[in-house]
Parts: sequence; structure tokens; C-alpha cells
Amino acid sequence: MSEWEILRNNCLSCRACPLWQTRKNVVFGVGDPQSELLFIGEGPGANEDELGEPFVGRSGQLLDGMLEMIGLQRNQIYIANIVKCRPPQNRDPLPAEQDACAGWLDRQLELIRPKLIVCLGRIAAKRMIDKGFAITRQHGQWYERGETLIMATFHPAALLRDPSRRPDAFDDFESLRLRIGERCERLHCE
Ligand code: URA
Ligand code: SF4
Repeated sequence: MSEWEILRNNCLSCRACPLWQTRKNVVFGVGDPQSELLFIGEGPGANEDELGEPFVGRSGQLLDGMLEMIGLQRNQIYIANIVKCRPPQNRDPLPAEQDACAGWLDRQLELIRPKLIVCLGRIAAKRMIDKGFAITRQHGQWYERGETLIMATFHPAALLRDPSRRPDAFDDFESLRLRIGERCERLHCE
């Protein structure tokens, strides 16, 4: 078994925070773990919990559409979440739950070693970029983390609630397309 598969198997039986009690499935992540591009969401919703896969509901359809806009399919990238189990009633994951779960994402990052990271929404941005991250002001800006460039854009669920933010999100994806051209050797936007 590869290190990745071992990590995944261990994660699937994790009980490190109380969210294990109400989950149906651990949502480890989906896509190509060798990809140069990693997306990080917040945590599973009801559909994701049901299927064990991130971004499979309406938010996921929107995300797929935005990826398609820049010529990408989800099997070319990797998609993970800050917490791997669904918070009840889709509430924000608590800081203690995020802390408990962080080790899984840290290991995913070590094994994927992405060139580019895109945080989807406030929770991921605060965790991965800066505690005081303000999405309205800082979305689309790139930050250096060692060899990796990281940015945050609006969460697809926020775009569904407030379509007036979509043009800004499209700009962020356009910026992502340019960065892929600059930084990625294996990943190509069609
Ligand atoms: N929202 C997220 O942040 N992650 C998912 O996997 C689904 C919806
Ligand atoms: Fe473990 Fe993370 Fe699930 Fe909590 S949310 S039980 S830390 S996998």
C-alpha cells in the first residue's frame, strides 16, 4: 500500500474529535494526489457526508463549472477540506475540531506538495493563510508559503447565496489560470 493509501485508511477510522459520532462517511478528499493544484474547502455538507466525497452537492456543481471555465476537470486537481467529517446542521467547524483534524491535511500537503493552493471561503483562508483574513478584501491575492503560492476565493455556497460576488470569483479563477501557466509543469488548462 502507498503512503497515501495508508494515510487515507487511517483517516477513515479517525475518532480524534466528536464529529465522528454524527458522520456517515469520512470525506478524505478526491482527485489526483499527484496534482500541482490543491483546493481546500471547509468541511462536508449533507451530500458529501452521504457519499464520502467533497463538493458533490450544488456547491460542487458550481465549483465544477468554474473549473471548466478555465479548462480544468476535477480529476486533474485534488480537493480536500479543513475538517473531514460533517459538522451537524452545517455549522462552522469549531476551532477545536479544526485543530484535531489539522494533522490529516498537513500529511496530505506533505505528500501532494502542490505548487498552488486555492482556499474556498473564509474558514479555509483563516486556517491556511492568516487568522485575520478578510475574504472581501483579500480574495484573489497570492501569498508565498515556501515553494507554494496560496490564495483564497469565495466559497461556492457563498456564491449561490449572493450571486453579486460571482464576477469577483471569476476574476480569481482567471488569476489562477495565469498562475497555472506560470508555475505548473504538468497541469495544463485546455
Ligand atoms: N463545502 C465544503 O466546504 N466542502 C465540501 O466538501 C462541500 C461543501
Ligand atoms: Fe477525525 Fe477530523 Fe473526523 Fe474529527 S473531523 S473525527 S479529527 S477525521
